[in-house]
Amino acid sequence: MSSRSKVAVIGGGGNVGAAVAFSIIACGIHADVIIVDAAEKLAEGQALDIADASHLSPANCCVGTFKEAGDCDVIIITAGARQQPGEPRSKLLNRNYSIMKSIIDNIKPIKETAVFIVVSNPVDVLASVIQRLTKLPYNQVMGSGTFLDSARLRNNLSEKLKISSSSIHAYILGEHGDDQFVGWSSATVAGTPLLSYDAIKDLDLNEIEKDISRKAYEIIEAKGSTYYGIGLHVAYLTRAVLGDERKVIPVSTFIKQYDAYMSIPSIVGAKGAEPVEINLDDQEKEHLQHAAIKIKGMCDQLNY
Ligand code: NAD
Ligand code: LAC
Repeated sequence: MSSRSKVAVIGGGGNVGAAVAFSIIACGIHADVIIVDAAEKLAEGQALDIADASHLSPANCCVGTFKEAGDCDVIIITAGARQQPGEPRSKLLNRNYSIMKSIIDNIKPIKETAVFIVVSNPVDVLASVIQRLTKLPYNQVMGSGTFLDSARLRNNLSEKLKISSSSIHAYILGEHGDDQFVGWSSATVAGTPLLSYDAIKDLDLNEIEKDISRKAYEIIEAKGSTYYGIGLHVAYLTRAVLGDERKVIPVSTFIKQYDAYMSIPSIVGAKGAEPVEINLDDQEKEHLQHAAIKIKGMCDQLNY
């Protein structure tokens, strides 16, 4: 990791962006973080507040311009509309597509080696939008994808199985949205397939899958939006890129076979994200195909 990498959080005046910037400071990542937002006063306030914490961290935080964002090593996009209670992420598409276009126009020219982490929803489709607008290689644009959903799954299983979530390897796949599904066939505990693990036989797997996919709706219903969970996950992705950690993380990456960005375990490092092969049973393959058709359909509808 270079001693002073530059990270931009575009949309950093909002809940998610501020949580991301704060998490980067709290995680002690060696980076200069700039907060950029269409609401300039809000961006300034968040940066001043977060900067108060920065003397306890190697990172620092200040407000920045769109042009400065284009020159950053990691460009995180959290700008845009968020869901109302009960509203699916896919309904944000048209509003957030226009916002992505205006952001890319405003930050150009973009550093050739920059890695984008798209967080705004619907994240799989918007990752594809950002790649097409920037024309960067596919690997240099990722969406936060189902990283957060997979954490929700691991936490849920951890509580039920009484095993640390860090020792449970299980992924939510496909879409960070209503067409997500659990990759049960590739899930393991201590190298043993989760499905052959004794304690799993007492659990209602369909119910768990439903609970995970409803989690964001539940939080939004109760407090209006979700941000702490995603904030820390995006900081973790940022560290994986800046430190070239090559960690396997379920993010939204370009899948050639489907000509779409989808949420799949990927190797995350300095060059961005590259999907890894994952074993799927026949039903999971169908789910993945279904999610691909939905995501591709939303991309095609934009006609860009
Ligand atoms: P928010 O309303 O708190 O913040 C959005 C921010 O975007 C605002 O500060 C606004 O001024 C800014 N903005 C709007 N247009 C802009 C533009 N053209 N340029 C720069 N900034 C602009 O919303 P939030 O709760 O922070 O959510 C932001 C997005 O993140 C939503 O799309 C939400 O669905 C998504 N989200 C994704 C995940 C995930 O896991 N991928 C998790 C939570 C939220
Ligand atoms: C989430 C957001 C709303 O927390 O996409 O899953």
